[in-house]
Amino acid sequence: MELRISFLLLAAAAAALSSTTTNAHNITRMLAKHPSFSTFNHYLTVTHLAGEINRRRTITVCAVDNAGMSDLLAKHYPLPTLKNILSLHIFADYFGAKKLHQITKGSTTTSSLFQATGEAAGTSGYVNITDMKGGKVGFAPVDSDSDGPMATFVKSLEELPYDIAVIQISNTLTSPEAEAPTAAPTDLNVTSLMAKQGCQTFSDMIVSQGVQSTFSDSVQGGLTIFCPSDEALDDFRPRYKNLTADGKSSLLLYHGVPVYNSLGMLRSSNGLMNTLATEGTKKFDFTVQNDGDDVKLKTKIVTATITGTLIDEDPLAVFKIDEVLLPKELFKAAPPAPAPKPAPKSKSKSKGAAAGGDEDGEEADGPGPASDDLAAADEDDSNDGERVRTGGVAALCFSLALGFLAYIC
Ligand SMILES: *[C@@H]1O[C@H](CO)[C@@H](O)[C@H](O)[C@H]1NC(C)=O
Ligand SMILES: *[C@@H]1O[C@H](CO)[C@@H](O)[C@H](O)[C@H]1NC(C)=O
Ligand SMILES: *[C@@H]1O[C@H](CO)[C@@H](O)[C@H](O)[C@H]1NC(C)=O
Ligand SMILES: *[C@@H]1O[C@H](CO)[C@@H](O)[C@H](O)[C@H]1NC(C)=O
Repeated sequence: MELRISFLLLAAAAAALSSTTTNAHNITRMLAKHPSFSTFNHYLTVTHLAGEINRRRTITVCAVDNAGMSDLLAKHYPLPTLKNILSLHIFADYFGAKKLHQITKGSTTTSSLFQATGEAAGTSGYVNITDMKGGKVGFAPVDSDSDGPMATFVKSLEELPYDIAVIQISNTLTSPEAEAPTAAPTDLNVTSLMAKQGCQTFSDMIVSQGVQSTFSDSVQGGLTIFCPSDEALDDFRPRYKNLTADGKSSLLLYHGVPVYNSLGMLRSSNGLMNTLATEGTKKFDFTVQNDGDDVKLKTKIVTATITGTLIDEDPLAVFKIDEVLLPKELFKAAPPAPAPKPAPKSKSKSKGAAAGGDEDGEEADGPGPASDDLAAADEDDSNDGERVRTGGVAALCFSLALGFLAYIC
């Protein structure tokens, strides 16, 4: 009987841990413990990169101290350029101190957020990490000029294996592409921006339906676009084909909101949104609803989740969503409930991996519940009660519970 109760408790613990799926880390708070990185921390917030870091599951942040940041700020880059430069410092993979010193063949290339957000062309946005002689580890963007001093690993600031590593490097990373002037949002070609960043199908539909000017003319006065990912539109294509020409236009315009909304604004406001398709009594509206750090968009028929940011620069924001928004004006209420979708996190994680940087066979020391790492994670928990561990600990509880079950039966 006692065994049975322990089993139930363990099962409940495992369930509680695995249901807390939203982000376990908050880079702003992690860096706040290190005052000599306050400038770097501040710029992660004002460039909205902090949100991108918090949303990702497997990530490394290469921080530079306040002295290093004042060298960068002395160059008086505009904020969008600073954002590109800082996104070179964020890798879509986990590199704790231990892993940095165990790089297979002494060198690896990893993709940074500059690459992942599609701002970078070609190979720029990739960063070489080299385990050099004497135990030094160097970082160099693949397209950087090799003259300046190479940034090197200084120390580890915070590690939550294999979710997030925050490390100090000696100086800022930069590359000609990241330093290049960026276009003002109003000069951007919205359709080609979306096409380049994973919303090719949506962009093509807008062009072939001839509604791109409705979008581009709205940028000046503020515009938020929610573009369904190419994967979401693949499944939807047969139903799209079935719509009339007017229906197609309305569906596309339904994904634009004629007001600028940053991710932060969306996170802090629930409620109805009018869209570019709203006209008189044809409401074509949907509801924004926060769910932890996730932002969900609900129509009467589907719920979509924001999975990425293509651009977030007043007056234009473009977010990627995992479902096509279906307005009740065009579609009947849901057919029998579809199977639950895998969490969007796993998607973005596999996207990060697909973006490159995995070719050094690091699977061997990659994510996995190695027992000593679990112990380290537990220690982290006691240091910061608000931090919720999900993966490894939940898996451990679950396997313990299974063990008990086997014992009872
Ligand atoms: C992260 O922490 C900072 C400072 O404690 C706080 O202001 C911010 O709201 C937090 N962000 C999230 C997404 O929880
Ligand atoms: C990055 O690594 C690649 C492959 O090892 C190498 O060809 C290239 O020269 C390196 N670039 C820099 C800037 O270190
Ligand atoms: C935007 O780019 C597409 C090609 O990517 C082009 O066909 C279109 O004419 C451009 N629109 C504007 C307004 O420049
Ligand atoms: C397209 O419309 C026809 C006629 O209304 C309907 O029978 C068919 O199921 C629809 N196809 C899809 C994929 O919605």
